[in-house]
Amino acid sequence: MELRIEELTKQFGKTVAVDHANLSLHEGVIGLLGSNGSGKSTMMKMICGILPSNSGNVFYENEEILKNYDNYVMNLGYMPQQLGFYPNFTVQEFLEYMSVVKGLKKEFYMKKIEELLMKLNLEEKRKAKIKNLSGGMLRRVGVAQALLNEPKILILDEPTAGLDPKERISLRNMISRLGEESIVLLSTHIVSDIESIADKIVIMKKGKILYYDTPENLLKMMEGKVYEVVCDRKTAERYMTEQIVVNVKKHHDQYTLRIVSDEVIEDGTSIEAGLDDLYLYHFNDEVKLEDF
Ligand SMILES: Nc1ncnc2c1ncn2[C@@H]1O[C@H](COP(=O)(O)OP(=O)(O)O)[C@@H](O)[C@H]1O
Ligand SMILES: [Mg+2]
Repeated sequence: MELRIEELTKQFGKTVAVDHANLSLHEGVIGLLGSNGSGKSTMMKMICGILPSNSGNVFYENEEILKNYDNYVMNLGYMPQQLGFYPNFTVQEFLEYMSVVKGLKKEFYMKKIEELLMKLNLEEKRKAKIKNLSGGMLRRVGVAQALLNEPKILILDEPTAGLDPKERISLRNMISRLGEESIVLLSTHIVSDIESIADKIVIMKKGKILYYDTPENLLKMMEGKVYEVVCDRKTAERYMTEQIVVNVKKHHDQYTLRIVSDEVIEDGTSIEAGLDDLYLYHFNDEVKLEDF
């Protein structure tokens, strides 16, 4: 199974939200990582065929998706970032409604809804109105509607936003299982959301795809670039202005810094890189470490 995008581009006025993006996706969990505004949602909407591109195309099994869109949609599940759906519907009504929109048969979807309500721990909420749900529950309903048609392509835009740690873990496990048979593309700006489950990671910045590789290969690029330095406050302050400092720990008057650097840090010890280091290495200019 292949979902491929070629030279996909979207402009809003002068903003190039997605800039000649190329990707070939297969079964598995693909994490789409990038800071806010990097173009993740825009790219996902084009992949779903709900936002026209300015140029470039999306192909599913070598067929341009808009050519046979009805067939494509049957294989697609999408959870948008903004879940503005039907405030006065109950959870059950909403899922039934979405099933009808998706053209599913009643015998099929009534069973499926039961299964999803159970899996997503929403059984007790079936009669609750959408407008009265907490952020985490709303997200789970968003995931449930995306799964109604057992999609082969699942596009989840920031599914973990607003979830508590327990909900995050259970969603992560579910996504991981779904990736065994489907193409699951999942966007986030939180590295830990995808660190353990992504088979591949796309790093997007200012509309461009910087990297698309396995977490292992991405980490290899960071080898020898991460250092730990133990120093006094004055030295720490100097490093904070001169280097990419991804973490600071203070113990009495001693500071332990985690630094990502292309140059050798003379008084530092080389340590193993994590995906957080890679992320901050690329988004250092957009992420501010809190003052210490
Ligand atoms: N409908 C729109 N009209 C104008 N600009 C938009 C629209 N949607 C997104 N943008 C702009 O495109 C860029 C990418 O946005 P988006 O795809 O939402 O990024 P992300 O999902 O990574 O946060 C941003 O600069 C955003 O302001
Ligand atoms: Mg977004």
